[in-house]
Amino acid sequence: MRVIILHGSPRRGMNSDTLVVEFIRGLSEVGKHSVRHFYLNEMSIKPCQGCEHCSTSAGHRCAIDDDMTQIYDAYKAADIIVWATPMYWDYLNAQTKTVQDRMEALACEGFSGKTFAVLLTYRYHVESATNMFKRIAPDFNIDLHIVTCRTRDLEAKRDIPISECPKELGEAYELGKILGAKKNRS
Ligand SMILES: Cc1cc2nc3c(=O)[nH]c(=O)nc-3n(C[C@H](O)[C@H](O)[C@H](O)COP(=O)(O)O)c2cc1C
Repeated sequence: MRVIILHGSPRRGMNSDTLVVEFIRGLSEVGKHSVRHFYLNEMSIKPCQGCEHCSTSAGHRCAIDDDMTQIYDAYKAADIIVWATPMYWDYLNAQTKTVQDRMEALACEGFSGKTFAVLLTYRYHVESATNMFKRIAPDFNIDLHIVTCRTRDLEAKRDIPISECPKELGEAYELGKILGAKKNRS
């Protein structure tokens, strides 16, 4: 099974990356997989220019030639796409949103048959991002799975390390196991 991980956070190894670690740990328990990591903050990916070249040209290629081409190629071959990102200003952070916009070039071919595993960390609100994924999933026939983790203790008014969130870490681990097993059966 081929898995690509879109790491949105500029903070390597922190909250959303830790959910990824648990997801992969679960996945690794069920069969062999090829896992490719993309650290979006370290890639050169321009925002979509709205030129519509991808929707109007033959082949539906994006007009921009940058590091996004690596993601396009890996995405086409992937069974599972992991979106791992913190919430910034009530949405996917900019690194992740930029990639999402550039996915427009893939939308022409459709996302049918792809599995999205969405791993979101946040302090206060996550619904604007989860609702977006839930809204687009049926339209594109995406098999959608979401794990969210609040990294703040609202009563104590302090951020908490994700190591203090065993329930959500367990959910990410279980999701990896479930998706690994599911894809192996299909
Ligand atoms: C610039 C910035 C904006 C943020 N905006 C939000 C927000 O709107 N809502 C929220 O719930 N958390 C927000 N957060 C908190 C992060 O989503 C949260 O700390 C997350 O766990 C960080 O994940 P990371 O360790 O993977 O970077 C923001 C953090 C930063 C740095």
